[in-house]
Amino acid sequence: MDKQAELDRVQQAIIKGGVCPELAGQATNLVMGDGNTDAEIVFIGEAPGKSEDEQGLPFVGAAGKFLNEMLAQAGLVRSDVYITNIVKYRPPNNRDPLPEEKKAFWPYLIKQLQIIQPKVIITLGRHSMEYFLPDMKISQIHGQAKRIQFGDKKVIIVPLYHPAAALYNGSLRQTLIDDFLNVPKIIAKLEG
Ligand code: URA
Repeated sequence: MDKQAELDRVQQAIIKGGVCPELAGQATNLVMGDGNTDAEIVFIGEAPGKSEDEQGLPFVGAAGKFLNEMLAQAGLVRSDVYITNIVKYRPPNNRDPLPEEKKAFWPYLIKQLQIIQPKVIITLGRHSMEYFLPDMKISQIHGQAKRIQFGDKKVIIVPLYHPAAALYNGSLRQTLIDDFLNVPKIIAKLEG
């Protein structure tokens, strides 16, 4: 079975499993992910916003535009990477995802990652970071590559600030851009 077909199965499992029925009941779309299923880099945000819910694709609103700009500055396009979120339905009024919502979607995110098998996972914001790097503070470790055991493999986690948080905050914005532009160097080091 090809990777997209396997990912479609995960999507069906979310629907059939009735994950987060309250969120599902209010959402227009389940937002699974977008990009290259053979990507070496996977980005994980927190949850779809309004535009993402409408279009069924992650990071297509203002934060997504900023993400695309940073990808371009790093010499990448969306089709080089895979982009998803920890929570796959939009929380009402863009509130933060609840701990139980993140917990409910976590096994499905793991399945996605087991299918794609990236070398590098870039978490965007603390909601997706906290599961990979528990008890760490994003303000202390943003931009630093951390090697963790993931199943029977090692994977590199690079925690970055969330583009939506950085969008309108000048210093955070520059920090995120600097961290982002360092990602190709991290990858080159891994491969070197
Ligand atoms: N913010 C996220 O965390 N994910 C999206 O898909 C869009 C905005």
